[in-house]
Amino acid sequence: MTRVQILVGSEMGTAETVAGDIKDRLDSQGINTAVNPLPEIDDLLDNPNDTLLICTSNTGAGELPSNIQPLYLALVRDFPNIAMRRYGVINLGDSSYTTFGEAGRAIDHAMSELGAVRIGEPLILDATSGDDPSELALAWLDDWTKQL
Ligand SMILES: Cc1cc2nc3c(=O)[nH]c(=O)nc-3n(C[C@H](O)[C@H](O)[C@H](O)COP(=O)(O)O)c2cc1C
Repeated sequence: MTRVQILVGSEMGTAETVAGDIKDRLDSQGINTAVNPLPEIDDLLDNPNDTLLICTSNTGAGELPSNIQPLYLALVRDFPNIAMRRYGVINLGDSSYTTFGEAGRAIDHAMSELGAVRIGEPLILDATSGDDPSELALAWLDDWTKQL
């Protein structure tokens, strides 16, 4: 099985914690996993066999966290060749914002516009639910990994 590279977008650390918990779970299942807290387009292009897992929060008014913006800008400005790359999306938001989940949808859209192929439906997490985001992500992950 190919390596999973988790592309983290996080302002206050929640998405990064979720990414770390996912890595622990995948490692324990024998799936080689790397957490990338500063994702750049070259990290995708230099590792063409990685399956990608975007794990990002939303900030501002539906914006991506600053650490993942360079990747997003490269996707929409430079049109890199990532056709057929397989990826998943975990989108951490807060439904009290009118821009709930907008940033996660934007990067999902940018990937698919370039011909990348999403595995499964995005997991959309709502901070107002009071649920533990890692618990929900790990439950979602079991089904996601079956599709790898
Ligand atoms: C200043 C600020 C702006 C936010 N803007 C949005 C937003 O536009 N849409 C959304 O769905 N969530 C928004 N959120 C909620 C965060 O995405 C959510 O709390 C997330 O779990 C934070 O993850 P992080 O700690 O990895 O940054 C915002 C949170 C903050 C503090």
